[in-house]
Amino acid sequence: MSMSWPVHWLAEIDSTNEEARRRAQSGALSGQWIAARRQISGRGRLGRTWVSPEGNLYATALFPWTDPVRAMTCIPFATALAVADTVTALAPEAVFKLKWPNDVRCDGAKISGVLIETGEAQRGRWVAVGIGINVRFTPEGLGQAATNLADLRGDAVLEPEMVLQSLREAFARRLAEAKLGFETILQAWLTRAEGLGETVRVTVNGEPVSGVFQGLGEDGALLLLLPDGAVTPIRAGDVELIREVSPD
Ligand code: BTN
Repeated sequence: MSMSWPVHWLAEIDSTNEEARRRAQSGALSGQWIAARRQISGRGRLGRTWVSPEGNLYATALFPWTDPVRAMTCIPFATALAVADTVTALAPEAVFKLKWPNDVRCDGAKISGVLIETGEAQRGRWVAVGIGINVRFTPEGLGQAATNLADLRGDAVLEPEMVLQSLREAFARRLAEAKLGFETILQAWLTRAEGLGETVRVTVNGEPVSGVFQGLGEDGALLLLLPDGAVTPIRAGDVELIREVSPD
């Protein structure tokens, strides 16, 4: 299983997800981790840039996917939980929450990002799960509040290698759990969910939709209770929590 996947550490790369894609397209594929000390063109979701200075973790788990394609919907949830397990083990006093589908945050500040890509090569389907964790720095320009492990721990001794060691274990465990039953992983995700029962604004294809975050559908869709009483499943979009500000 994935704990035995080898790790290829690189000094510098354009993007570990891009390197994963090149490796996946170029021949035989077996499970592996690709990690880099820094990325020149780190990629974020929705075409954004992921600023990648030395000191943070940039890693991609690349593996063949032989299960049915629809079962891939478990991957973002298993990954978010694996990241939450990792940062919780390393900063036990901080409380980490999950923002749908796979952001990990502490007090509303983002500590990690996940970019999942997939493709079809000659030898079958592959998945690249790219994970960035702010270990020592909070990169600027994210357009939202962010934090890092060193600040949360109150020390600066943590190395990205140590974080990856912990992440590999957690990812192996959570992916195995997800493959046994999606329901279990969704329940585990919900216990850490941010904004459950609260009003959220989701941007779907550029259009904002507001409603109450009611829970998850069987396929992991975010269930949004609209003002007219209808419940709509959201399968892709950017979620923003809207907190009521108390009058005092
Ligand atoms: C996000 O926008 O929240 C997702 C960011 C994902 C960043 C990681 S870092 C390792 C991997 N390589 C990339 O270029 N991106 C992902």
